[in-house]
Amino acid sequence: PDLEDLYQQVILDHSRRPRNFGEIPPPVIQVHGDNPSCGDEIQLFVKFADDGSIEDIKFTGQGCAISQASASMMTLKTKGKSREEVTTLLAAFHHLLTHHEDEPAEILGDVQLLQSVWKFPQRVKCATLAWRSLEQALATDSASDASVTTEAGPG
Ligand code: FES
Ligand code: FES
Repeated sequence: PDLEDLYQQVILDHSRRPRNFGEIPPPVIQVHGDNPSCGDEIQLFVKFADDGSIEDIKFTGQGCAISQASASMMTLKTKGKSREEVTTLLAAFHHLLTHHEDEPAEILGDVQLLQSVWKFPQRVKCATLAWRSLEQALATDSASDASVTTEAGPG
């Protein structure tokens, strides 16, 4: 199928029916991510297992279809993954949006489709919001239930 069609379908499906949408009761790492340029935001909840892997991950918030879809896909990709695997995914995602001329990394699966957003630079922030929030969650001490605020910078 046409890649653009597939992109539209996947974004639409995830934004209409976001996976892992909801809250995780404390203690949990909670990150508030927001995109000041539009006011969209997400609240990310990450529960780390003792070995540092992601035991559970959920999000709530309001945002455009791309930010919601990207968050939904991100949670599907990272739930149950080890810290190492998550770090690899984050790097692959970063590479996807900064080197759009490159072949996307296969481990990203469906997320590869988000590469299309490079054509609309304004949307890069939408696609990265959840991933930046996850980065922030990883940087937060997993033993605490701190709440931090992160702002999505330029793509
Ligand atoms: Fe980050 Fe190349 S992957 S700039
Ligand atoms: Fe606000 Fe996409 S328009 S995150």
